[in-house]
Amino acid sequence: MGDDSIGGRLSEFIGNLGGFLRKFIFSVLSVGPIPNHIAFILDGNRRYAKKHNLKEGDGHRAGFVALLSMLKYCYELGVKYVTIYAFSIDNFNRRPDEVQYIMGLMHEKIEGMLKEESFVRSYGVRVHFLGDLKLLHQSVRIAAEKAMRVTANNTKFVLLICVAYTSTNETVHSVHQCFKEKRRPMDKFQEEEQQQQQQGLIKLVDLERNMYMALAPDPDILVRTSGETRLSNFLLWQTAFCYLYSPAKLWPEISLWNLVWSVLNFQRAYPYLLKTKMKRY
Ligand SMILES: *[C@@H]1O[C@H](CO)[C@@H](O)[C@H](O)[C@H]1NC(C)=O
Ligand SMILES: *[C@@H]1O[C@H](CO)[C@@H](O)[C@H](O)[C@H]1NC(C)=O
Repeated sequence: MGDDSIGGRLSEFIGNLGGFLRKFIFSVLSVGPIPNHIAFILDGNRRYAKKHNLKEGDGHRAGFVALLSMLKYCYELGVKYVTIYAFSIDNFNRRPDEVQYIMGLMHEKIEGMLKEESFVRSYGVRVHFLGDLKLLHQSVRIAAEKAMRVTANNTKFVLLICVAYTSTNETVHSVHQCFKEKRRPMDKFQEEEQQQQQQGLIKLVDLERNMYMALAPDPDILVRTSGETRLSNFLLWQTAFCYLYSPAKLWPEISLWNLVWSVLNFQRAYPYLLKTKMKRY
């Protein structure tokens, strides 16, 4: 037996041990309530690159690797929805070469998603892209639309990717949609009904139904890395009763323990969150 295969077996053994440990930890966590939906603000890729003397692009690539691990952990834990803030409308104001680079990387990763051996394909993930998608570079938009089409029948796990997104824009979008709905030509009966309801022409349920995020229940946990404690126009509407967690680590450094810690804290806050959620109207 050569050294290579011993080394290979050893790393496989350690890998399995890691998987076993993880399973054990997750089964302990599962005694309590498991969050249905976790949202992430992936903050710190650029700082990570600076810290390790890498090119800025390599920071984003390291961030993508961290994202894949985190998605797998969430899946194994039984979280059904994950939302990530990949690119905000404001990010289009960054240096043109950086925007160009990120668009290129996004394109590459979306294409990668559709390959046989990818996380999306092998775990049966449904992918949604949300935001003002017409702002994306055309090649990225086409790839994103294809990814949504191809994964439309997957049900096991739902990944919502906010690109060209801000909460304020989502709200404006929703209001526009509500108006469009209400202005549709009506028959006599509907007109009478509407006159009765004129006080509240647009209701809370209308607004919520027309949000991009209507595809998922509100998040239970929002994680923002790099110790930043701002929401930066992300899911403002949906986080009214959400547990917020902001570890000091930069995004590419985020680990299993951060996830475990956030779930433990969510579980501790759960009775309170449940009570306040009930009061929502
Ligand atoms: C999804 O399911 C529908 C109805 O069963 C089918 O017509 C469609 O081709 C499927 N789409 C994909 C991408 O598999
Ligand atoms: C925001 O939302 C509105 C309404 O849907 C849309 O018309 C507008 O183009 C969006 N984008 C920006 C960058 O404001």
